[in-house]
Amino acid sequence: MQLTAVLANQMKISHFQSMRSLKQIIIGTTYRKVLKPVLFAQDPEKIHNRFIFIGHIMGKFRITRFINRLLFKYKNTMLEQTVFDIKFENPVGLSAGFDKDAQIIRILPEVGFGFMQVGSITFKPYQGNQRPRLYRLKKSQGIIVNYGLKNNGAKKIVKNLPRKPKHFLVSASVAKTNSRDTITTKDGIEDYAECLKILQKSKYFDFFTINISCPNAFGGEPFAEPKKLDRLLKKIHTLGIDKPIFLKMPINEKWSNSKLLIEVAIKNKIDGLIIGNLDKNRSNPQIKDQIPKHIKGGISGKPTWSITNELISKTYKNYGDKIKIIGVGGIFSAQDAYEKIKRGATLVQLITGMIFEGPQLIGEINRGLVELLKKDGYTNISDAIGANHSKHLG
Ligand SMILES: Cc1cc2nc3c(=O)[nH]c(=O)nc-3n(C[C@H](O)[C@H](O)[C@H](O)COP(=O)(O)O)c2cc1C
Repeated sequence: MQLTAVLANQMKISHFQSMRSLKQIIIGTTYRKVLKPVLFAQDPEKIHNRFIFIGHIMGKFRITRFINRLLFKYKNTMLEQTVFDIKFENPVGLSAGFDKDAQIIRILPEVGFGFMQVGSITFKPYQGNQRPRLYRLKKSQGIIVNYGLKNNGAKKIVKNLPRKPKHFLVSASVAKTNSRDTITTKDGIEDYAECLKILQKSKYFDFFTINISCPNAFGGEPFAEPKKLDRLLKKIHTLGIDKPIFLKMPINEKWSNSKLLIEVAIKNKIDGLIIGNLDKNRSNPQIKDQIPKHIKGGISGKPTWSITNELISKTYKNYGDKIKIIGVGGIFSAQDAYEKIKRGATLVQLITGMIFEGPQLIGEINRGLVELLKKDGYTNISDAIGANHSKHLG
């Protein structure tokens, strides 16, 4: 009874906005009102693993892929764009950290994603930091993440890669193995390089991301220091990788240091920046939950929203003609994705919004983006990139 009333109300509101289809309203409301309370009462890592298992099974069969496509996918040519000679069907991607071992690639295009990022993958496997490694911030709409780069390692991941879905773009996020063995700059650089060599040899990935900003790894983030980053990127340059390379940025650095990192990236011919990673600042005013002392890790979701937005704007304003941006952090709606695009992001990625709002969110964002583009008189998503700035770049 209550759900019916909520649905009726949602439909009334959404009819005026016409941002969501009836199907999306029904699935979304059912997820938030019925499924989410049950899921959110259970251990977050257990739920994450279960979703990966279900996604893996659904991706295996034509019929389950077809059902997912019917339920979730939204397509429109206004969302298509070619970036670095790669055609993106839509600008919404799954961010790194959800599918660490490449288990759900086959279902993701059916859910509506335009691309995804596997990993972060490291050269050697790592079983992850001590539990609890995930903690929900229900009021703040975020998650505290402390996996510490848990993954099966490059060799095993490549060995088990599924058949790649047609027209779906898969990138690999590469990080330094979380271990005492990679603590020196030299060993750290070698570790990244060995990982990249394995991934490149597989010829599976459409682009790569160098993750220098995992807040939960042994030895911190040494390559968030410009000189060390320069050494790392020079080494990567020698590998002859023929695919675009992105750099995943930390979001708690002072602008003066971020600028230096970006300049090092540009100098070393990095193609794009992912802005950005998890928030390390526990005194972030967007955090409304009490966090128990024993909970360690970086924060995702809404608490990262304005920090990443500001960094995207500054980066686009200063370097938008030299480097592309993928905007990530706290995207929970089409308006959120559009805001990051208008600030200068060419593409966007998310995880936490999908966990809080439901799997229909991807189609909802894509559909909503088309409405927002039409409202602003644009004919393609690429017209809106950087529209908030007086000067349109690149
Ligand atoms: C469960 C979880 C695991 C993550 N693991 C990684 C990771 O391995 N590598 C990485 O670059 N980012 C990782 N992240 C960060 C996300 O890719 C993203 O940058 C961040 O969560 C902000 O986006 P969101 O607010 O849409 O979640 C992780 C985030 C979450 C929620």
